[in-house]
Amino acid sequence: MIKIENLSASYGRIQALRAVTLNMSPGTVFAVLGANGAGKTTLLRSILGLVSTTGTVRLDGQDISRLATHERIRRGIAIVPEGRRLFSDLTVRENLLIGAINRSDRSRVQSELQDICDAFPILGKRRDQAAKSLSGGEGQLLALGRAMLSRPKVLLLDEPSVGLMPIAVTEVFTTVAKVSREKGLTILLVEQNAKKALKIADEAAVLELGSVAFKDSARGMREDRRVQEAYLGGH
Ligand SMILES: Nc1ncnc2c1ncn2[C@@H]1O[C@H](COP(=O)(O)OP(=O)(O)O)[C@@H](O)[C@H]1O
Ligand SMILES: [Mg+2]
Repeated sequence: MIKIENLSASYGRIQALRAVTLNMSPGTVFAVLGANGAGKTTLLRSILGLVSTTGTVRLDGQDISRLATHERIRRGIAIVPEGRRLFSDLTVRENLLIGAINRSDRSRVQSELQDICDAFPILGKRRDQAAKSLSGGEGQLLALGRAMLSRPKVLLLDEPSVGLMPIAVTEVFTTVAKVSREKGLTILLVEQNAKKALKIADEAAVLELGSVAFKDSARGMREDRRVQEAYLGGH
């Protein structure tokens, strides 16, 4: 589904990604872990064409690494950026509809909007309230729902746990796993919260200074002593 080969990225003279190779299977959650500054956000920006790169990114076998960002989005890549970027004065419903801004199938959009409100009942309950009235976890669900309304094949999530209470992190991650399972969505989950991310991921990689340091099934990663010591607090 998404195949990344030898992807390097730089900001001027600063090289932020070094020959990253990753394979994401359709309908799975792939976690990319790593400390602050490891290159996680740069990986997502590279997939979207927002930073200068070498190497290839394939979506369904097609090389998309020379395409403009809007064309990559049109082909089915959506992102929930770090910090969510909701429109705080717009209602929950209006924020959701922004995800569908490029679609012309209005009646399907309405029924999918309803599906999202059914799947995330808190959004249904608050659909006419301003986004700023939501808690952090609810806001993250709204950002997720908004991205889903663009009907992506691949969803990129940049540190959805940032700023959330532990219980909200668990709820958001459970929802992410459910969405992937039920909708067959391929999800690339970038996280510093390795422990919780590995609980819901199928496969995972650890980035260190822009390079892939480890790559394994999530289960293998949870059981790997080096990963435990460096990222899981030794448990
Ligand atoms: N716009 C930018 N200009 C210059 N350097 C940047 C820019 N964005 C990120 N970097 C650098 O690239 C590296 C990777 O950053 P980033 O991908 O944001 O890491 P992460 O998301 O894992 O915290 C860091 O060294 C960071 O300082
Ligand atoms: Mg980041």
